[in-house]
Amino acid sequence: MPVPLFDTQSPLRPLRAEILAAIERVVDGGHFVLGPEVDAFERELAGWLGAPHVAGVANGTEAITIALRALGVGPGDEVVVPSFTFYASAEAIPPTGATPVFCDVDPETLCVTADTVKAALGPRTKAVVAVHLFGNVAPVEEIEALGVPVVEDAAQAAGALAADGRRAGALGTVATFSFYPSKNLGALGDGGAVVARDAELDDRVRTLRFHGSRDKVTYEEVGYNSRLDEVQAAALRVLLPHVDAWCDHRRKVAGWYAEEGLAGPAAAPGTTPAWHLHVVRHERPDAVANALAEAGVQARGYYRTPVHAQRAMLPFPPRVPLRATDEAARTHLALPMSASLTREQVSEVARAYGLAA
Ligand SMILES: Cc1ncc(COP(=O)(O)O)c(C=O)c1O
Repeated sequence: MPVPLFDTQSPLRPLRAEILAAIERVVDGGHFVLGPEVDAFERELAGWLGAPHVAGVANGTEAITIALRALGVGPGDEVVVPSFTFYASAEAIPPTGATPVFCDVDPETLCVTADTVKAALGPRTKAVVAVHLFGNVAPVEEIEALGVPVVEDAAQAAGALAADGRRAGALGTVATFSFYPSKNLGALGDGGAVVARDAELDDRVRTLRFHGSRDKVTYEEVGYNSRLDEVQAAALRVLLPHVDAWCDHRRKVAGWYAEEGLAGPAAAPGTTPAWHLHVVRHERPDAVANALAEAGVQARGYYRTPVHAQRAMLPFPPRVPLRATDEAARTHLALPMSASLTREQVSEVARAYGLAA
């Protein structure tokens, strides 16, 4: 049987009737953008995160841009961001007018650290985008101790816990989520959220997501049309209570891979990651992926070209060496991971990997 890289459908199957009932509620209610479902989801996500404020937005990329703007980031400022991440973490910076400054990641956790961020700090640094990559937890407090606010990019980390038990997405000054369908908490389309530590920041986010307006008649600053719709919010309300169980399963899967000699990145000490992808390293990852494909196992290098080397980012050349980034980009390979993967499937992947490698 083929083993897919991820499986967005199986976890939804038992919830089908509930999801359809939620959509029906929206259709019957006649409210389609920023209505009662979004209000309720924002409250429920805030409660789950243990964070004071959540605002729904259109996607995880705009969530980062809006979070940075809410922090006051603008032209002339610099924002430190890892290069080993999904492109959007950095793409979200230039629309604020600021310059992305690329930093390295830890070779074991594949997340930024206070040291890798510190090496890229300068007098114009206004914020850091700390990515909880692959569901691992970046050391947000240590980075904020450098004296610069952190935007946690928690797009891949719903369900992850820091060493003190607080949730990823509730650790920094502001955090962002993506609800792209393949995420740990995925909607039925695009969606995102901005989590704010204080009411003033939350108010800025809410204004920016609606064209820079509080009252829909006066426009204080140039903002965005970046709103979460009611169908997505209604579906997300059904899914949110299941995220922890799904992430428990993801951790179990990562443990099974480790038993098979295919361990993923190291968890930062004491943390409980919510493995979004299961990434191993190999000197010839694409050859392995091709051989796995022949055996019916999907595998993929997600960030083979690191962000700083993408054509669109060439105007922002790195100022510090990115050795761990270059190594991880060259060698990483994502193996199947989902909330429904079985022990047998992991054995099958490991068997095929053993033959391929
Ligand atoms: C780390 C990271 N940041 C940002 C994003 C952007 O999210 P979206 O696709 O919802 O814009 C994603 C996912 O796509 C991501 O994985």
